[in-house]
Amino acid sequence: MSPDSKYLVAVVGAGPAGLYGAKELADQGARVALFNRDVKPGGLAEYGIYHSKHKMKNGLRKQFSKIMAHPDIEYFGNLTVGAEGDLSLDDLRDLGFQVIMVTAGAQGTKWLGLDGEELEGVYHAKDVVYHYNHLPPFATKEMKIGRKSAIIGIGNVMCDIARWMIRDLKIDSVVCFARRGPAEAKWTRKEFASFAANMDMDAFEAEFAKCTPIMEGVNQDVEAAKAFIMEGVASAKDPVSETRFEFDFCASPKGMTGEDGKLKAITIEETTLVPKNGDTKAQGTGNITEVEIDSVVFCIGDKVDESFGLPTEWSEFSKNPEPRFPIDDMSYEAYDHEAEKVIEDIFLAGWSRKASDGLVGAARKDGTNGSKAVLQYLEQLGPAASLDTQGLHDRIAALDKYVVRNEDYNKLLDAEKAVAESKGVDEFKFDTNEEMLEAIGADK
Ligand SMILES: Cc1cc2nc3c(=O)[nH]c(=O)nc-3n(C[C@H](O)[C@H](O)[C@H](O)COP(=O)(O)OP(=O)(O)OC[C@H]3O[C@@H](n4cnc5c(N)ncnc54)[C@H](O)[C@@H]3O)c2cc1C
Ligand SMILES: NC(=O)c1ccc[n+]([C@@H]2O[C@H](COP(=O)([O-])OP(=O)(O)OC[C@H]3O[C@@H](n4cnc5c(N)ncnc54)[C@H](OP(=O)(O)O)[C@@H]3O)[C@@H](O)[C@H]2O)c1
Repeated sequence: MSPDSKYLVAVVGAGPAGLYGAKELADQGARVALFNRDVKPGGLAEYGIYHSKHKMKNGLRKQFSKIMAHPDIEYFGNLTVGAEGDLSLDDLRDLGFQVIMVTAGAQGTKWLGLDGEELEGVYHAKDVVYHYNHLPPFATKEMKIGRKSAIIGIGNVMCDIARWMIRDLKIDSVVCFARRGPAEAKWTRKEFASFAANMDMDAFEAEFAKCTPIMEGVNQDVEAAKAFIMEGVASAKDPVSETRFEFDFCASPKGMTGEDGKLKAITIEETTLVPKNGDTKAQGTGNITEVEIDSVVFCIGDKVDESFGLPTEWSEFSKNPEPRFPIDDMSYEAYDHEAEKVIEDIFLAGWSRKASDGLVGAARKDGTNGSKAVLQYLEQLGPAASLDTQGLHDRIAALDKYVVRNEDYNKLLDAEKAVAESKGVDEFKFDTNEEMLEAIGADK
């Protein structure tokens, strides 16, 4: 431990926001306990980013390894914090932590309350990306993706799911429904280019012609919207399957129907665009169609975990509307909106502050800025009465499970690398916590 340490801080969640946030805190005089639900740190950088982006993921893992080696950051993986977790927020307070920074991501599922959401074949993107990125327990859950699939939403997560269906599963057809039009595409060119070669161009032209008067009705730049999509087509990766991909713009999901518990069709309402606060909004026209499909993946963003134990509004944890320690004009402070009171010692960063927003770089910046707000609060509060974490270690020793420590991370990465080399594959990941713990040597 650095002799300059004077504060004791808990960070909940070791995704990019938590890892880089913990580093900022530790560099600036805090002793940090970093708690993580998963065995491995990294969050969506490990378990969200597309599985074959090896260079990007290995680069991030190297940075995470360095942070895990920081003398003032103690990692406690395979340990959940929260109202239903291994440790509650009050437990952390009782154990002497002066501040808790919550960087647990957006772990809740944004169901729309449609009929048929419980049917086999209906999935949310998070579960699917966790599955193909080998996060327990999703890694071993069977995803029933059929030959004819649908996707809802037109952001980058849609691109990842389409890529998986087209390049990995090589299914027959994928139809992507967007409640608004082509000008509202939120993906980046490179992500679309990963599967754009499979787009049925005749269907696209017909679809674009359908949308043109709707787009003109809200003064959108029709040519610019088309040019953006065509840029992706022009830089498309070579196809590896015959999968037919098509868009259905201005089409909003209304429900799903099934047979014997299995998805059979999705009900879609045609929409038009109306202006709203300088943007557009989809408005239903009442025209309904049924499209036969055998699976659908909702790629519409996530919300925070409502069972965590903090007040939530919409899809997010409530934030102090008049922050005491704003950074770049933003509030990082948890808030009880019913009592209209700031929760003094709890700060939020990353996707726990703003759900499903931005890339790893943005989460890194947000974690760092959240820590800056925490440090301002600590400066007012003064040093911790004690930096001793023996009480925490005693609590953890009493848990009926192995809690993963800093040095275990590299052991696990090395064990997985060794299996990958022996199998002659680019990457190997264990599918269960038990296998990961065995590789670490935790069973001995
Ligand atoms: C499918 C997908 C693909 C993406 N691809 C890219 C990409 O290619 N490039 C890019 O730059 N960005 C990409 N992103 C965005 C990037 O992954 C996110 O911006 C970033 O991971 C968010 O970081 P975070 O730390 O806020 O949350 P997360 O990464 O979600 O991390 C949250 C962490 O908190 C832990 N946790 C959760 N609940 C608890 C709890 N109760 N107690 C303790 N720990 C808990 C989790 O185990 C996890 O480790 C992608 C996102 C998704 C969804
Ligand atoms: N490779 C990468 O770099 C990569 C990969 C994946 C994710 N990410 C990042 O992760 C973040 C999250 O991505 P995302 O794709 O989940 O979110 P996103 O970019 O916000 O896209 C969400 C999509 O869902 C639609 N949607 C939302 N609510 C809906 C509803 N009720 N009914 C129908 N459609 C609905 C949205 O339509 P409206 O526009 O009409 O709301 C939008 O098309 C983004 O910042 C993204 O860039 C990056």
